[in-house]
Amino acid sequence: MKPLCTILSLLVCANWAASADLERGQTLYNQICFNCHGLHFDGGIGPSLKDNYWRHGDSPEAILEVINKGIPAAGMIAFETVFPESDRLALRDLIVAQHEGLRGVVRAVYPRAPFKGKRLTRALFDSVKPLSKTRLPENVYYFDRNGDGILRGTSKLHIKEAGEYQFTIRPIGRTSIFLDGKEVHYSDEKSKKNTHVNRKFELKPGIYDLEILHEEKTTHSYRFHGVLQRVGGKRFVLNGRSLQGNVPKIIKATHEAKVVRKWIDGLPPRTLLCLLPNQTLVAYNPVDGSVLKAWHSAAINQTPSLVDRSAKPSEIKGVPIPDVGSKLFEAETLRFLRYEIHLDTVHLVSLVDGEEKTVTIAPEGTQSFKLSVQ
Ligand code: HEC
Repeated sequence: MKPLCTILSLLVCANWAASADLERGQTLYNQICFNCHGLHFDGGIGPSLKDNYWRHGDSPEAILEVINKGIPAAGMIAFETVFPESDRLALRDLIVAQHEGLRGVVRAVYPRAPFKGKRLTRALFDSVKPLSKTRLPENVYYFDRNGDGILRGTSKLHIKEAGEYQFTIRPIGRTSIFLDGKEVHYSDEKSKKNTHVNRKFELKPGIYDLEILHEEKTTHSYRFHGVLQRVGGKRFVLNGRSLQGNVPKIIKATHEAKVVRKWIDGLPPRTLLCLLPNQTLVAYNPVDGSVLKAWHSAAINQTPSLVDRSAKPSEIKGVPIPDVGSKLFEAETLRFLRYEIHLDTVHLVSLVDGEEKTVTIAPEGTQSFKLSVQ
């Protein structure tokens, strides 16, 4: 086994020294990857490579594996035979270097009884068998009220900027935080403040082991909330809600048309997003029967940002097609009935002044659509 310091210094060099490899990685990224993952790593046809959600794992090994083997079924190319190994490593390091904050979060849940009345220490946790242990695809801790006993979260903490740091924890239940094995925070809402610990500590750029031990009463209406803050600077939110089904993904055009409803900033809540096989996206408002907007080369980035995991609108990625807004009916009453998909075409059926009318949206060429009303 390699000594830890060597591994750490390697990672640190790979991550944050302005090394030739990162430059090489950036050059390759700008030639190929940006087409699908965005100029700023924030996603496009492929997912964001700098947020807190990793479908295939956020470890350097997992990232390299995806670069090597691809995810052919999902449209991610295998680069093993395209680039030599040194280039693939440079790309991996470039991606790892985009990210700051928690990584590789493991969430273990323990029964309450063995911890009753005792200080939460790592040794005590080590002596108890966890009820469950999961590596989260999300780089934040979460705590399920009413369900969980005691949480032990472990992760890596990636820091890019040197400075003085401190944890701020909403003092509910009790919390202990360890950084590279040293206790830096302890708080317990039931014990006297003068027994609490809330250290400030210096961090250099690098990777640290972070461990959070936390107990929360089932009756709390708040959840665990913690922030790591660089004094006078950036904040890292440590927790969030579990994604539970609302997993970030890019909704892309396929050989069949599709209709989706998503919360998009600036569009009415009932808007139907009609995504055609030629990657044209038409936003249709079924309430008044109007085409609101359209894009070509489009995809929908569902729940794009997970920084604080609050519900965020999805985003449309694409090139706006100008002057498409139009109201299709002059009617006293309009009631939307249903939509149907016929291969590459969407049919939107409404009752217009008592008569059934169908708006048809079909692809035209590679960057447009045609509209008809019958
Ligand atoms: C043709 C489009 C396309 C190109 C080009 C492309 N990717 Fe991807 N990539 C994708 C898609 C789509 C996914 C999502 C796969 C999935 O959802 O399973 C993905 C996933 C990934 C992931 C995993 C993300 C996660 O959440 O686990 C990594 C890492 C990645 N790509 C890196 C790269 C790098 C590095 C390059 C350039 C060498 C690149 N990709 C080029 C489409 C692309």
